[in-house]
Amino acid sequence: MMYKNKVTTILILRLLMLFLWVAATFELVEDARRMVHVIVLNKLPPGQNFTVHCKSKDDDLGVHELGPQQAYTFHFHGNIFGTTLFFCGINTDYGNGVYDIYDRRRDRDRCFICIWDVKQDGVYGYREGSNSSDIFLKWVKT
Ligand SMILES: *[C@@H]1O[C@H](CO)[C@@H](O)[C@H](O)[C@H]1NC(C)=O
Ligand SMILES: *[C@@H]1O[C@H](CO)[C@@H](O)[C@H](O)[C@H]1NC(C)=O
Repeated sequence: MMYKNKVTTILILRLLMLFLWVAATFELVEDARRMVHVIVLNKLPPGQNFTVHCKSKDDDLGVHELGPQQAYTFHFHGNIFGTTLFFCGINTDYGNGVYDIYDRRRDRDRCFICIWDVKQDGVYGYREGSNSSDIFLKWVKT
């Protein structure tokens, strides 16, 4: 009798753990797959254009030219593994570079609307809801 009870208890604990594990996994996956919006703004001096070319492992979003005060935006669902990474080549008359514009591991708690300003000295990233940039990427080449 004692023995049977013990087996039942262990079985129930195992089922409970399995249930918690499945629930946690679904939550992680759902969170990882939430839609992310990336917005890149032209904040260069008046009259200056630049080009932006974003890619992930699976997608090439092509080259886009931005005129003064224009914005380039794209959005995507994260992958279920939480490893989504988009990088962009940015070319201005002042300098250029290739930068991680969205890195799930860096940005998971940082933004779902991820804003970047392209300025004369480099690229400024903003945590969602914040006015002041928390990431500054200076030009790799000038
Ligand atoms: C700058 O970009 C705008 C909009 O894409 C375009 O109409 C314009 O011709 C561009 N200017 C130059 C100097 O390339
Ligand atoms: C952002 O800046 C504006 C004006 O500079 C200010 O009124 C506002 O309170 C700021 N918001 C935050 C979240 O810091």
